[in-house]
Amino acid sequence: MSRLGKGSAATVTDGSIVLDKLTHWFPGKGRDAAFHAVGPVELEIPSGQFVSIVGPSGCGKSTLMLICAGLLRPSLGSVRIGGQSLNEPLTDVGIVFQDHLLLPFRTAWDNVMLQADIRGTGGPEMTARAERLFDQLKLVKKDASGRAVLDARGRYPAQLSGGMQQRVSIARALVHNPPIIMMDEPFGALDALTRLQVRADLEQLWLTDRPTVLFITHSVEEAVGLSDRVLVMSPTPGQVVRDMTIDIPRPRPLSLTEAPELREYMEEIYQLFEDMGVIETEAASRP
Ligand SMILES: Nc1ncnc2c1ncn2[C@@H]1O[C@H](COP(=O)(O)OP(=O)(O)OP(=O)(O)O)[C@@H](O)[C@H]1O
Ligand SMILES: [Mg+2]
Repeated sequence: MSRLGKGSAATVTDGSIVLDKLTHWFPGKGRDAAFHAVGPVELEIPSGQFVSIVGPSGCGKSTLMLICAGLLRPSLGSVRIGGQSLNEPLTDVGIVFQDHLLLPFRTAWDNVMLQADIRGTGGPEMTARAERLFDQLKLVKKDASGRAVLDARGRYPAQLSGGMQQRVSIARALVHNPPIIMMDEPFGALDALTRLQVRADLEQLWLTDRPTVLFITHSVEEAVGLSDRVLVMSPTPGQVVRDMTIDIPRPRPLSLTEAPELREYMEEIYQLFEDMGVIETEAASRP
């Protein structure tokens, strides 16, 4: 059952997302015409599905995510979350922005517990979940005797590596076990190795809790590797030009050489980008 209180933020327990003729224009300044940024987009995401969106820069991916989170009202069309119209910001959503947006004056632990502190919803269950996330995301590492050899909990963001900061922001988004998670280029600041590790960690977390995930990435490999479904968007105004089901067993291998079928899906997406004129030569963009 979903609950949408008038005038209050929206909470959900069913994570399905339905977009109906969703379209957005940004108003022009002065005499400039309004800018058609995205849509129309028709989309049905069942609860618990992992969906990635790939598309050229500026095609409207972040705009679409903001609308799905209730942070931006669409010019036309509607969003339904758990079967209910979305008319205010979702609270039961974990959002990870490209920039980790951690508060510099709070420790990693206190950053993760921020929402709980603000809402007064912290408790033993939330603390246990935060402990587990620090463990799963390798922010606390213990040796065979159980002694912590690395413990990020008490460190401030400036004392963490870029990859650790990003993992803290992922823990912060997941700590209240939201039914929906939205991530906009969450691994953008990570080096290639950490990116692989965090990708595997995220898949494990998703396999445990099965939230609905809307994942925006510029990496076709990451989209195919993580998702049940990849949506390919056209250049601006962004529309979904291909809705691709990724049928590869989980947990997925990290290396492309271990999953030739992953490569086939990627080739199909690159071909679409070539057909749309988004990439011009094969050599330029393929790994
Ligand atoms: N507040 C705004 N006012 C006017 N135009 C905007 C605004 N926000 C975004 N746009 C424009 O809308 C288009 C879509 O922007 P958006 O940020 O959604 O793209 P994106 O697909 O997320 O791009 P990227 O991959 O580079 O992050 C862009 O042309 C952008 O300049
Ligand atoms: Mg964006």
